[in-house]
Amino acid sequence: MKKIDILTDNDFETFFDRQGLFTRNQLEEHLKLYNGYVERSNEYMYRYNSAKSGLALIGVKERFYIKNKETYDLDSLILHDLFIENLANPNQQENYMPEKLCGIFEESFGTVNNWGIDFKEAAKLSKGWALFVYEPLSDTYRNIILESHNEGIIIGAKILLVFDAYEHAYFIDFGANKKEYIEKFMQNINWEVVEGRL
Ligand SMILES: [Fe+2]
Repeated sequence: MKKIDILTDNDFETFFDRQGLFTRNQLEEHLKLYNGYVERSNEYMYRYNSAKSGLALIGVKERFYIKNKETYDLDSLILHDLFIENLANPNQQENYMPEKLCGIFEESFGTVNNWGIDFKEAAKLSKGWALFVYEPLSDTYRNIILESHNEGIIIGAKILLVFDAYEHAYFIDFGANKKEYIEKFMQNINWEVVEGRL
């Protein structure tokens, strides 16, 4: 068992320097939420996942709630890590879409542009997350949506690109203009990171 660390002020600075999409204020508010997910995930591990001191001592309704929240909070952490990681670094000299990815987009969606249109539509429709994934059973690349952190993921799919479509991710910087947020995200994807996940 490994305790998950909450983010410190230094982590905030690192994240801020590493991306060109959000203002400091927006990102800080977002990462405070992240720390809440960390604290609850640790609590589920240490307090409730023990027959002696945990779930066995509380009522069924609350046990169900906690079991559901366990995957909700942990999936949220994992998705946020992937999202922050696939944001482009403004100091990065070159950030071109690698040839290998271009080939995948063309083969799966006809053109790179078609993939982009489909991903942006998924991002617009989703109230939670939009993901570009590889699904091994059908051997397909897909843009999918998750309406909640632990709802909609394809089990076994390889997550290649993550977009946070929750309002908390953008309302300080973009207000109700989700379209602008999506467009700016598309220009701030760290393609090297995405390629590394193939
Ligand atoms: Fe978020």
